[in-house]
Amino acid sequence: KYIKWTPDMAEKGGYDHFMLKEIHEQPQVLRDTLREIKAIQQVVDEIREIKRICFVACGTSYHAALVGKYLFESILHIPTDAIIASEFQYTANALDEETLTIFITQSGETADTLNALRAANKKSKTLAIVNVLGSTATREADHVIYTRAGPEIGVAATKTYISQLACIYMLAATIGQKPDIIEDLRKLPEEMEKILEKDELIKDIAKTYKDESDFLFIGRGFSYPTALEGALKLKEITYIHAEAYASGELKHGPIALIEKGTPVVAIAPPPLFLKSEVHGDKEFRNSHTLTLSNVKEVKSRGAEVIGLGSEDDEEFKKNTSDYISFNPSIREEISPILYIIPLQLLAYYISVMKGEDPDHPRNLAKCVTVV
Ligand code: G6P
Repeated sequence: KYIKWTPDMAEKGGYDHFMLKEIHEQPQVLRDTLREIKAIQQVVDEIREIKRICFVACGTSYHAALVGKYLFESILHIPTDAIIASEFQYTANALDEETLTIFITQSGETADTLNALRAANKKSKTLAIVNVLGSTATREADHVIYTRAGPEIGVAATKTYISQLACIYMLAATIGQKPDIIEDLRKLPEEMEKILEKDELIKDIAKTYKDESDFLFIGRGFSYPTALEGALKLKEITYIHAEAYASGELKHGPIALIEKGTPVVAIAPPPLFLKSEVHGDKEFRNSHTLTLSNVKEVKSRGAEVIGLGSEDDEEFKKNTSDYISFNPSIREEISPILYIIPLQLLAYYISVMKGEDPDHPRNLAKCVTVV
């Protein structure tokens, strides 16, 4: 029996689509990006004296920015904003020499992001985290960090998101002198490989829910950006309506959408315990307990819950219809880099099962050079 090969198939390395190939490249992309630590150290040495950080980006890169806000504020206690690039001109008036404005852009050519970069250059120090070598953002920012993801062909960003997150975590580890963050990152490629092996389980889940018309994604703290990114992937390539909410917001409106059979993707990794100046010594990160009570609320109203959590979390498991489990040692603060992977795969398989082309979603472009 012969398998016919075309040049296109060879480029996809045997995968049906670039998106699937790129999802599977993520463990290696993380390993490659981790080698950038020296370059990041050098940038941090050059910058110094930072009192405030402002992340700016669009789309998936904005979700990486939002993870940056949670990381820098909760772990490093540095005041940090995450601003959508097209909104930057309306909000960012308080930049000064002690602010570091960090632009996250895969292409380095997104018009909204470049406009914001040009404005920020006049007032603050700027740093661009970019995938495409020599792109406009790399030429215009004061400092540059490269995400080593290699060329990304699929329009929906996957591996570049992982490499952006890795750079943000390494930046936090370096600025805050927290080598334990780097140690945690080094464990992740292996955990990613284990998640990629859950392919069949994710295909089954895709089959169950592919004909639904609305999805809700919920998460708190570090899992809120993961909920946003999971919903964005689903919208982009399956055209199913998906909304993401910080779990605590459910009761302020979106819970009205729940009816019998509504799929709700709930992200609740094991919590991080921190002493907090604001909240005192009590359990600060109660994100897990609270998301679990949200899960029970939606379940009692008929939702089908797809849970993403620790493999030993029996309480969570028993309140879900489907469950994707992770190593219990991966806690909330590092989870965004790992927990997004099954959601990329879920969107991918639903797209393929619906007969869509995940590499070329309608109305979308890889790089948007107009405002
Ligand atoms: C486009 C792409 C998205 C991407 C966004 C930002 O909309 O379709 O996948 O996240 O641009 O792109 P950038 O290159 O600035 O990261």
